[in-house]
Amino acid sequence: MKAPSINHDPLPYVDKIIAIGSGKGGVGKSTVTSCLAHALVADGKRVGILDADVHGPSIPQMLGIATVGQPEVKEEQMLPIMGHGIATMSMAHLAPGKAAIWRGPMVTKALVQMLRHVRWGTQDAPLDVLLIDLPPGTGDIHLTLLQQAPIDGAFVVTTPQPIAVIDAEKAAQLFLKANIPLLGIIENMSILALPDGGSLQPFGAGGGQQLAEKAHVPLLAQLPLDSELREAMDEGKQPPNLAPFEALLPALRG
Ligand SMILES: Nc1ncnc2c1ncn2[C@@H]1O[C@H](COP(=O)(O)OP(=O)(O)O)[C@@H](O)[C@H]1O
Ligand SMILES: [Mg+2]
Repeated sequence: MKAPSINHDPLPYVDKIIAIGSGKGGVGKSTVTSCLAHALVADGKRVGILDADVHGPSIPQMLGIATVGQPEVKEEQMLPIMGHGIATMSMAHLAPGKAAIWRGPMVTKALVQMLRHVRWGTQDAPLDVLLIDLPPGTGDIHLTLLQQAPIDGAFVVTTPQPIAVIDAEKAAQLFLKANIPLLGIIENMSILALPDGGSLQPFGAGGGQQLAEKAHVPLLAQLPLDSELREAMDEGKQPPNLAPFEALLPALRG
């Protein structure tokens, strides 16, 4: 039987689904997604991450679970892989070490598997939030998820420079067209603190604010460039400073 092209049925025992998109790669979507999940866990919430970046999955690395192998299957559902208390599913778990050189229909199938054939929540342990870490762009994967996942809201991540903002605006438009509430803009890599007490803005300034004004949504954060954060993400450790991500939690409660 062919899967229906639109299926917005709720995921069992999942309260909220939030997507994190950007348009451009390398602006910090996966970092923001991971750190937001850490902040939710610290807030006592049950949280999961669906790593929808089929071609460049980075969540398992960022959560220190890149080498744990394939998920267990119970009653025809995959069990999510846990890292730092965060439930995850990623192509890096399903096809470890392999580049996903796939055509559209296979990508769609893999996404639907990760969305609907994973036991994200149970009656005893319902998930409060499922975060979806999107790939760059506004392509097949995005359309599939918009059709197959009942997404409650979205964040758009951008860096301050125009080249990133142009693409981020497309991501914002995609959510708005799909009637998914845009919760706000997160500007990343906004400022670099120097050892002498000064600071630099290597990617310029103002992009996040511009995008927020255009989309009529709040600019929720301006995250600094932080080499300790980069190291923690590469090593799959807790971020050194959760405060900027805890500050995003009120936007999720609305
Ligand atoms: N605020 C930041 N400070 C320092 N490094 C960062 C920051 N945000 C992201 N990075 C690093 O930049 C790289 C790209 O980030 P990533 O989250 O993978 O981007 P995306 O998912 O948008 O492609 C990663 O190595 C990540 O650790
Ligand atoms: Mg990513």
